[in-house]
Amino acid sequence: MSNRRAGIIGLGVYAPEKILTNEELEKMVDTSDEWIRTRTGIRERRIAAPEQATSDLALEAARRALADAAVTAGELDLIIVATNTPDMLFPATACLLQNALGAERAGAFDLLAGCTGFIYALAAGSQFIAGGGAKTVLVVGAETLSRIVNWRDRNTCVLFGDGAGAAVLREVPDGYGMLAFRLGAEGSGGPLLCLPAGGSRRPADRETVEQDLHYVHMNGREVFKFAVRTMEEGTREVTREAGLTVQDVDFLIPHQANIRIIDAAVRRLGIPAERVLVNVDRYGNTSTASVPLALQEARREGRIKNGDHVVLVGFGAGLTWAAAALKWFDGRGEE
Ligand code: ACO
Repeated sequence: MSNRRAGIIGLGVYAPEKILTNEELEKMVDTSDEWIRTRTGIRERRIAAPEQATSDLALEAARRALADAAVTAGELDLIIVATNTPDMLFPATACLLQNALGAERAGAFDLLAGCTGFIYALAAGSQFIAGGGAKTVLVVGAETLSRIVNWRDRNTCVLFGDGAGAAVLREVPDGYGMLAFRLGAEGSGGPLLCLPAGGSRRPADRETVEQDLHYVHMNGREVFKFAVRTMEEGTREVTREAGLTVQDVDFLIPHQANIRIIDAAVRRLGIPAERVLVNVDRYGNTSTASVPLALQEARREGRIKNGDHVVLVGFGAGLTWAAAALKWFDGRGEE
């Protein structure tokens, strides 16, 4: 890495207004509030309004992040949108966002790395800044997973929610910002979590629709094992790479998929619970939006202070995993 180190200078999140509770799900599929809470930690999730697509959620979060950073859309050099639920297969949701924001100077592309996408995008955006290819980068994680889950399948429909989060990246003072990141993939695990139809392998036709192949298919138990292993290893690797130990981590922001995954990984790492943000109870798994939603909550509650060592860690479809270590820069003081 060059000496130019990127940091997050503004954050914004957006969660749709509509709340879907476990009690409401009991009326839709054969499940119970008790099962969902004890197996996942989820109590409720947000669902996008019928007229809202992923780029609409992204736009709300992006506007808030730009305002928070006191940066105008015209100053953006690059927009990266991490999503598994683009508005369309193409054009990229990032281009739709670029247009909606009026970010005339910005390049724009989407990044697909499952739920890990936001951390991958953060790493990519940071590298553009470190390498001098961009001065100001907008990184977004946005999802309307409610559009791709099978609302008749209790194994998956109880897990996911909609939302968006955005971060503005710029060079920050020496010693602050992105200290290290680690990106990983185990492509052999791809079939464990996928949306089988609608791509070039299995184009959409009557049969794929009849067979529910346009919905999320998941082997939950195998993904669970991968998640616990890589969340632990990823955190260890990124702290080592940053010249820190796990004990030096002031705050951990894990991907919010399941409280049991978070608890198991955190227990293995020996990080005290008060240094870990959990909000899966209120949002479910919002995929690429989960890390920024959690980060913003930690920041709003004053749980992350200037100079803190913050680790973001996640896993997802691919299979992928990633971790990032940052020295938190809050040069603008309190909100
Ligand atoms: N309500 C009631 N019963 C249910 C429900 C439900 N909503 N869902 C499953 N069950 C049943 C199953 O049918 C099964 O019944 P059976 O034993 O009669 O077959 C039983 O509960 C136990 O199922 P398990 O799969 O063993 O349950 P488990 O404890 O593993 O929990 C879960 C399932 C919550 C899916 C868990 O495996 C998990 O969280 N895995 C990780 C999933 C994940 O994080 N995915 C997101 C990845 S990120 C991304 O990129 C999208």
